[in-house]
Amino acid sequence: MAGVPVPPALAAEHARLAAEIAEHDRRYHQEDAPVISDAEYDALRRRLERLEAEHPALRSMAGGTVGAAPSGKFAKIRHAVPMLSLGNVFSGEEARDFVARVRRFLDWPAEQELAFTAEPKIDGLSLSLRYESGALVHAATRGDGAEGEDVTANIRAVLASTGIPAQLPAEAPAIAEIRGEIYLGHADFAAINARQAEAGGKVFANPRNAAAGSLRQIDPAVTAGRPLRFFAYAWGEMSAMPAMTQSGMVAAFARWGFPTNPLMRRCPDVEALLAHYSAIEAARPELGYDIDGVVYKVDDLALQRRLGFVARAPRWAVAHKFAAERAVTRLNAIEIQVGRTGALTPVAKLEPVTVGGVVVANATLHNADEIARLDVRVGDFVVVQRAGDVIPQVVEVVAERRPEGAQPYIFPAHCPVCGSPVRIEATGSGAEGAVRRCSGELACPAQRIEHLRHFVSRRAFDIEGLGEKQIEFFYECPVEHLRVREPADIFTLQARNETSLQKIENFEGFGKTSVANLFAAIAARRTISLERFIFALGIRHVGETTAKILARAAGDWPAFASLARRIAAGEADAEAELQAIDQIGPSVRQALADFFARPETGAMVARLVAELTILPAERPAAESPVAGKTLVFTGTLERMTRDEAKARAESLGAKVAGSVSKKTDLVVAGPGAGSKLDKAAELGVKVISEAEWLTLIGG
Ligand code: IVH
Repeated sequence: MAGVPVPPALAAEHARLAAEIAEHDRRYHQEDAPVISDAEYDALRRRLERLEAEHPALRSMAGGTVGAAPSGKFAKIRHAVPMLSLGNVFSGEEARDFVARVRRFLDWPAEQELAFTAEPKIDGLSLSLRYESGALVHAATRGDGAEGEDVTANIRAVLASTGIPAQLPAEAPAIAEIRGEIYLGHADFAAINARQAEAGGKVFANPRNAAAGSLRQIDPAVTAGRPLRFFAYAWGEMSAMPAMTQSGMVAAFARWGFPTNPLMRRCPDVEALLAHYSAIEAARPELGYDIDGVVYKVDDLALQRRLGFVARAPRWAVAHKFAAERAVTRLNAIEIQVGRTGALTPVAKLEPVTVGGVVVANATLHNADEIARLDVRVGDFVVVQRAGDVIPQVVEVVAERRPEGAQPYIFPAHCPVCGSPVRIEATGSGAEGAVRRCSGELACPAQRIEHLRHFVSRRAFDIEGLGEKQIEFFYECPVEHLRVREPADIFTLQARNETSLQKIENFEGFGKTSVANLFAAIAARRTISLERFIFALGIRHVGETTAKILARAAGDWPAFASLARRIAAGEADAEAELQAIDQIGPSVRQALADFFARPETGAMVARLVAELTILPAERPAAESPVAGKTLVFTGTLERMTRDEAKARAESLGAKVAGSVSKKTDLVVAGPGAGSKLDKAAELGVKVISEAEWLTLIGG
């Protein structure tokens, strides 16, 4: 590619990305105040690197960065074993459900003990420490879980305060990755802030931010002055295991010199877990450091291995979070928001109040049933709750403070945006009550705008420079010729701008560069993966995961479009085809049918497809013997539960179906298998035993 001129639009995108990255580097390194997540930052860098790989000439242009990380930026370290996160539960009941789920997955007899550990969830940053032949070789932050930042020099500067050993005793294995939490105590946090304030420096909002800021100093001498601390509670790569249990592992870490949390207990059952949760909660004010919950982990490591992972969290562990923080404030109004699929969501407009350190002015009221359940009325004083990143909620009305004459809330019968009648729909499960939906569909501007917002969002088309504000602007653009009313319009915008007398660059908030950047970003998205495309369509019940499943099952756009059209037409064999796709249930089937049966949506999709190149779906890597194969389990499995077998097969890239069909590649049959075996014989599908299955996948 070298020597080939770089298209100006790509050069512009490259320059914009480089400038953006430089700004984030500055915020991160000089201000300790990043405004985007590590994952978002990585995405920006990856895009820049991709551009540079495709057009090497860009590397020599201003802003070329690959291979020369900006000074001060930490080097990346790829984790030998990914660093995972944890699922959350918020009540004793949910904790019991978690334990019950684990027991079910393992098919663990009710009378047999299933021990867990319970320990404080430290509110700091996770850190991975790698030792080779006993010596500390590097320390890395979690980063995006796959790749973190090399903070070895800084950790070496705080060995004394953290208690992290530089050298492990001879008993430790040749390769040992010890993981845990870096944090700051309350007193040290206060002292750092006092010192910072006195010197006119930056004051940290909480100990966690202060710990992050201290760890990510470019100059290790600065980190050395921050008394960071550490608790070891997990591990990555280990060339040999010093124990067979979670508690045994942590005991080994303690023997090797790591600080471990004194409040960790081994609990024989869920009652003991909950009792220890209460004990830790009671001790919380005296601990001297921030914790935000209690982590439960299956103690037996063999069982941890059997349980494995879902997405990025282990099935064998969970964080039981402490109750959210609450505050009382006045409800000034109830506003109805119209979502992408027309669902009407009531939002509480509140007298601003601080809840857990954050000012809250809006809270969700979920739906009409919730308003009725709370009997919340405009003018009421209400209890607002927020937990972590969860949207604040109104949880209760302070009955004694109800103003005289406050009237029950009447949910509107017409869409507040387009005036169409409101439909009341029962949800699939019925449990969440009825959803009220604007019947205007794509005639409702609110739904169209939400649809466009979804379309350009990060996980869909991810069009840089086309955010919520710009979508609103183009939707109502004073120059009709330049309006964006449906996704296809985005891709015809540049051509329309060229033939327009009034140009986008002349509107307030736009300039020549930003318009060039916008067109470059749009051009870059004319080629899109099938899964992103399906997700971007905004079909009800089709989130990212479902979109991926559908894309993989269909293979390419023409196949998917034909399947969707046949489903919309109610063709029975299309229904059956969809039914055969594992994890696709009736609500998705119905949503696809509804979506593609509407003539307006069909036409809208056709106009959009005409503008794009949709790439065929990626098939799972063929490294495992069952990758891409469709399996059916039948009969009783003796060595693992059905759920476990399914999870293992899926993690190896196989699809697991519920019934045998022409598409089945393999049937794994245990004792008691019935009609599925007959069907397999009839269709000539290979049948193997559980033992053969285990041999096939390597035990
Ligand atoms: S175990 C595979 N134990 O919580 C499980 N995590 O929400 C690995 N954390 O990224 C995590 N205290 O930074 C574990 N006692 C504890 C913890 C803990 C704090 C953090 C950790 C993790 C996050 C997940």
